[in-house]
Amino acid sequence: MTSKEIRNKFLRFFEKKGHKIVPSSSLLSTDPSVLFTTAGMQQFKEYFLGESSPYGNRVTSSQKCFRTSDIEEIGDTTHLTFLEMLGNFSFGDYFKKESIEWTLEFLTKVCKLKKEKLWITAFKGDKEVPEDKESREIWRKLGFPENRIYGFSRKDNFWGPTGEQGPCGPTTEIHYDSTGKSCSLGKKCLPNCRCGRFVELWNLVFNEFYQDKDKKLTPLKQKGVDTGMGLERLAMVVQNKASVFETDLFSSTPQAKAERIIADHIKGSVFLASEGIIPSNVEQGYVLRRILRRAIRYGKILKMPKNFLIPLAQKVIEIYKDVYPEVKSKETDILTIIQNEEEKFEKTLERGLKEFDKLISRNKDIKGEQAFDLYQSYGFPLELTEELAKEKGFKVDKKGFEKAIKKHQEISRAGKEAKFGGIGKEAGLEAAKLHTATHLMHQALREVLGSHVKQMGSDITPKRLRFDFSHSAKMTEQEINKVEKIVNQKIKQDLEVKKQEMLYSDAIKSGALAFFKEKYPEKVSVYSIGKFSKEICAGSHVKRTSELGKFKIIKEESSSAGIRRLRAILE
Ligand code: SER
Repeated sequence: MTSKEIRNKFLRFFEKKGHKIVPSSSLLSTDPSVLFTTAGMQQFKEYFLGESSPYGNRVTSSQKCFRTSDIEEIGDTTHLTFLEMLGNFSFGDYFKKESIEWTLEFLTKVCKLKKEKLWITAFKGDKEVPEDKESREIWRKLGFPENRIYGFSRKDNFWGPTGEQGPCGPTTEIHYDSTGKSCSLGKKCLPNCRCGRFVELWNLVFNEFYQDKDKKLTPLKQKGVDTGMGLERLAMVVQNKASVFETDLFSSTPQAKAERIIADHIKGSVFLASEGIIPSNVEQGYVLRRILRRAIRYGKILKMPKNFLIPLAQKVIEIYKDVYPEVKSKETDILTIIQNEEEKFEKTLERGLKEFDKLISRNKDIKGEQAFDLYQSYGFPLELTEELAKEKGFKVDKKGFEKAIKKHQEISRAGKEAKFGGIGKEAGLEAAKLHTATHLMHQALREVLGSHVKQMGSDITPKRLRFDFSHSAKMTEQEINKVEKIVNQKIKQDLEVKKQEMLYSDAIKSGALAFFKEKYPEKVSVYSIGKFSKEICAGSHVKRTSELGKFKIIKEESSSAGIRRLRAILE
């Protein structure tokens, strides 16, 4: 069975069981406490909490997911950063019995996996949450012997919440016995053994609790089911392959760890870039930069030719273009982003590696300032330096690195303040107006173009604002007009501009937009403009929007790959 068939059969199977097929949501998470969509349930989080679902109470999806949590594991047979999660969900509808029965039916009848190869785990209970005897009993009734059902603790058989709070609950998991042979690691070879014998295939979460920010559990009013199965792993066992990389979801069959890392990272990069993410030093952009640069470094080890990532990215696009058309429609942007990053890093990688070798030979462990220098002068993400050091058996002073970054930022901020210090009161007021206008425009852009719009840079003089933001296409005349109209409306509404001091973490929780994550001090100022906009900001603003006058965009142009630049004035 091809992966396309598996994906379709899964969705159709649950459609027949009364589920509505819901398309995958974006990889960019709507929950500000997490950067990416990491699970199929994320787009349905509210429906588990009782909000009415527009799709009904049974849904199924194949969700694009991106996880950095397993990045160290990549190179083995089953772990990936980008994956597709097949899932079926119940919001206060069916519960354990149906979901377990359908799981078994799908795996054995549709996928034709041998039941004897399936092993089960369930939650064994702890002080707070009792053992999940019900699931065990259901599996037993379905013919699973005691010696293929095992209880595990919270770490393995309790899931959620995603982000800082939300639904969660005990799980039962299906593991596939790929070799049928016990390993020789000394202990009993059971599911969750690290030897690679068992492939963790399908996770069935029974959402019964709500976990709040203080990790306190309270029972949910309605019970729900959230299941997730990695399509790549299912394809691996159905297609009888030794690793996910040998399935038809990859174009070649990389064996060496370095090859697998490149294969994984280029796929992740294509998908991240297809969402409008651009390599940068913050947030999602930083993750994209980190995996691209890691792939480039491994390419160097394998002596790959210049621009080797481009044909690989094209292969990824070929594999996914029918299922996720955005990878094809954004092909030019994606390839440009990858090529630019490769060329940029190519220039400094070699010199940076030489510098790194020098440091290692001199003082072994890498000091914070030195890691910062590798970052600043040679574009080495901290994690890359850490990986290089680890390979030689050394460590990096991470805290020292963060301190060095902060110090550097303070110095450059002080420089900027000195520069602005010279301007008169009048000019200062004009700049404050433009600052407020920038916030309004930023929010308007997100409304007109989509929430992928992120501030990538801003420069304000007393005469005009200049604003760079992530967006891959040239803005149309209509879009520009719409943005202007929204901003001018908000100016007319005479909204109050309010400043609040709060902890950075609280600001994020409150939904304030933040753009230079690493630069923020612990305490920040959050500016709200009516209910329209909320942003963390250190600049000075006016008190009410009516002070601004008339807003006008005077120029729209490309700034660099995937980044647009706007200039606007107040008349
Ligand atoms: N949310 C669970 C997971 O991600 C099941 O879908 O594993």
